Amino acid sequence: MTDWYRTATERVLALVLLALLPACTAPATPTTDRPQLGVAADPDLLGRQLLNVFPDGRGLPPGRGTVADGARLFAQHCAGCHGRDGRGGSADELTGATRPLTSVDADKTIGSYWPYATTLFDFIRRTKPMNAPGTLEADEVYALCAWLLHANGIVQADAVIDAHTLPAIRMPNRDGFIRIE
Ligand code: HEC
Repeated sequence: MTDWYRTATERVLALVLLALLPACTAPATPTTDRPQLGVAADPDLLGRQLLNVFPDGRGLPPGRGTVADGARLFAQHCAGCHGRDGRGGSADELTGATRPLTSVDADKTIGSYWPYATTLFDFIRRTKPMNAPGTLEADEVYALCAWLLHANGIVQADAVIDAHTLPAIRMPNRDGFIRIE
């Protein structure tokens, strides 16, 4: 077998290649001290992701909804999974708890379990309907809160739910949780 580096030219070439090898394997000099990944966050998109609603009402948008409008919207968007009256469907029961929280098989519904009414707005706006989240207007979400609260016996049939009335509602299980500061 002939050695490929026999001639002087080949030997020089081999040496140059060997000298270049470390430069090829060394990591590229970073231009900043951060990884160069992703794109700058779009403030508009970020704004639309900030959907948190707090128990004191912070984060609630303008708008309002009635129990009657909520009943219509619930039948249209929610009853298919949750049942016509918010129970008896394939998805979680939203109304009609019968077994107390102290029982082994407790019914944990909005009325029996949830400590804050504002969670309803947050949860429905960001996740519902399950097959088309983010499609409901603020007025529609307020109306669905109104109907669900009424169906749980928490507000009257003529209630109007908005950014002021929703945080003011005292839920039956308001004191059922231990708050750790
Ligand atoms: C495609 C089926 C489907 C549709 C449509 C749907 N949901 Fe749900 N929903 C579920 C399922 C499954 C759960 C339980 C899992 C979860 O919490 O996401 C649930 C959970 C919930 C909960 C939380 C229950 C709890 O106590 O934890 C609420 C509130 C709720 N849905 C409201 C609604 C409202 C209001 C609508 C209509 C705007 C709606 N859902 C439409 C399937 C659905």
